[in-house]
Amino acid sequence: MERDLKKLISEMTLEEKAGLCSGASFWYTKPVERLGIPAVMMTDGPHGLRKQAGNADHLGLNDSVQAVCFPAACATAASFDTELMTELGETLGSECQAENISILLGPAVNIKRSPLCGRNFEYMSEDPYLTGKLAAAYIRGVQSRNVGTSIKHFAANNQEYNRMSCSSEVSERALREIYLAGFEEAVKQAQPKTVMCSYNKINGTYASENEWLLNKVLRDDWGFEGYVVTDWGAVSDRVKGLKAGLDLEMPGPGTANDAKIVQAVRSGTLDEAVLDRAVERLLRVLYSYVDHRAPDAVFDRAADHEKAVDMAAECAVLLENNGVLPLKKDAKVCYIGSFAKTPRYQGGGSSHINPSKVTSALEAAQAKNRSVRYVPAFSAEKDELLPGGLEEAAAAAKEAEAAVIFAGLPDSFESEGYDRKHMNLPKVQDELIRAVLAVQPNTVVVLHNGSPVECPWAEQAAAILEMYLGGQGVGEACDRLLWGECNPCGRLAETFPLRLQDTPSYLNFPGDGKKVHYAEGVYVGYRYYDSKQIPVRWAFGHGMSYTEFEYANLALSSGIMEDDSTLTVRVDVTNRGKTAGKEVVQLYVRDQNGTAGRPDKELKGFAKVFLNPGETKTVSMQLTARDFSYWNEELGDWYAPSGSYAVLAGHASDDIRLQADVQFTTKKLLPLTVSMSTTLGELLKDPRTAPVVQQMLAKAGQGPVGAMLEGGDPSAKAMAQAMLAGLPLKALISFGAVSPEQAEGLIAMLNGVLA
Ligand code: BGC
Repeated sequence: MERDLKKLISEMTLEEKAGLCSGASFWYTKPVERLGIPAVMMTDGPHGLRKQAGNADHLGLNDSVQAVCFPAACATAASFDTELMTELGETLGSECQAENISILLGPAVNIKRSPLCGRNFEYMSEDPYLTGKLAAAYIRGVQSRNVGTSIKHFAANNQEYNRMSCSSEVSERALREIYLAGFEEAVKQAQPKTVMCSYNKINGTYASENEWLLNKVLRDDWGFEGYVVTDWGAVSDRVKGLKAGLDLEMPGPGTANDAKIVQAVRSGTLDEAVLDRAVERLLRVLYSYVDHRAPDAVFDRAADHEKAVDMAAECAVLLENNGVLPLKKDAKVCYIGSFAKTPRYQGGGSSHINPSKVTSALEAAQAKNRSVRYVPAFSAEKDELLPGGLEEAAAAAKEAEAAVIFAGLPDSFESEGYDRKHMNLPKVQDELIRAVLAVQPNTVVVLHNGSPVECPWAEQAAAILEMYLGGQGVGEACDRLLWGECNPCGRLAETFPLRLQDTPSYLNFPGDGKKVHYAEGVYVGYRYYDSKQIPVRWAFGHGMSYTEFEYANLALSSGIMEDDSTLTVRVDVTNRGKTAGKEVVQLYVRDQNGTAGRPDKELKGFAKVFLNPGETKTVSMQLTARDFSYWNEELGDWYAPSGSYAVLAGHASDDIRLQADVQFTTKKLLPLTVSMSTTLGELLKDPRTAPVVQQMLAKAGQGPVGAMLEGGDPSAKAMAQAMLAGLPLKALISFGAVSPEQAEGLIAMLNGVLA
């Protein structure tokens, strides 16, 4: 049914319209009973439903109804699997219909600028391309059930420290390329019904009243059609916010702010049309749910638990393996560490789910009658050994054929609301791992953490399996992976650095509390490590399998590219091992033109393929001009300089298997205004001014400038040309090549050519 929203709005009083711009309570919008406009509920998000029936809070402290806790985004991103994300979204969307929830507050897509951000477990990746594709897939899934999403936290909210007031000081280039690009892709491809603006300021202006961010970038540039909601309590100046494109204030009731909106319209400082537009957006989203209720939807917790288990298995990343995994069916194994019995499977804060059931790796092993002995050894809550734990663990490990240590971060080590101070596991766990490694060479370490940890013992471990915060099914998933019922196929969506000191934001995280300078610019994650060739523990994209994959025949549909063309890239992948498995083919692009400030390579495609032993499949991906481009601040647009680019296909950012080159030609011209400071190099690069300058240089002939180019061997000539390129026009006067009047004339002429 098409509703006539304009008519409905025309029947509303000013107070009713302003009232709709804030919620009724913690989770509900305001109804307008007189006109039959119902209240609807929204709920966190993102990896399960936190529906609070009683006392409400935004920090996950009070109870919520039992739901299914799926793997957190740190894990699902490691799936590199858009189909999995859509399935997750569809499942959550159906659960929402069953629970009468109109909007699920997710996905959370902030970039992992530092491994220390307390909320990294809820975020996807250090890479915006991967983030955008996965977020779009999730949104499509949820919204296919006519439930809205709220992509968050828009934008540049990359730390928890003073998140409600700190200003993220970021260049537009880094914003566009790194911090906004994931949102952009999701908005353009999947139109989330709502966007949640973040608490923080961006370059001095709160996101909730940032006209550039909300109206210009989000709406004008990207074509966002839904409404913008504040993060809970993120409103600052309400009227300014409304003008800037903020529609809904949460939680409600924002009675004082509603009154300010009314007052502003009455006094003429706010155009009522701005309010009407916000109300229309709110109503459109509201009715897209209300008019498409699925009254028969059932929340099948048992079935969804099974999905949670399957997903956790798809997300785990096998970081190391010397062949000890998978464990032999009848092996006598010792499970060490409390996480074997009480796994850490979710993070703290607003995304905290009340799980319908949690199964541990230990229970799963016992249910399958595996020969497993268990020694808890350390506390799951604190950095503390249990009495006799270390000795008992070492003795049991020595007796067994293999040991599996279930290590990880206790809840208090990472959470929404504060950042980590270091990247270490609890000290006692490192100590225990070393003690067990000393007596049992077949030691496997399983990790339960939401963000990278330093693993100083990594080289001694026989295998390391990263389960992340894998949701309530993590234990069963872990069992399947350890014992070879599933083949690990996750890939790291973030780099594991060797040390915290190696991270690109190390000197500028988390700032002084008022401002945080994103001084590393676009060099985030592997963009930094690969450009600086800094060794890391495990690279972005890394992940092992119980089989081997071979790459061959990288083929480009053309050797040349232009602004409007699409390049098809094909590559053959073969499973060379004895086990069926999945490979994630990753495609990176490298600018080979020496353009300033471009990372060594950037992810621009990925595809996950299942292959039986011996099977070969051709993977096909597409690249457009955008994939070769960076954000040029002078142009205010995406720009790829004409020249040579490498297309790289590989298994990880540090494991490139094949390369093919493509020649790109752009018709885009960079803005240029010629002055005395303009260099000959700049003029020679621009196709409009180059011919004039070349002619001038040819004419300079015997003069001092000409002399620089004449005679000598080729390398001397090259040196002279390089020096010439750096000469500003004013230097031509100093060297007597032209008179001041001639230089002025030349400048006028060149600007004429450019006009
Ligand atoms: C969080 C949001 C969450 C909201 C509602 C805020 O503190 O930052 O991610 O959706 O609370 O719980």
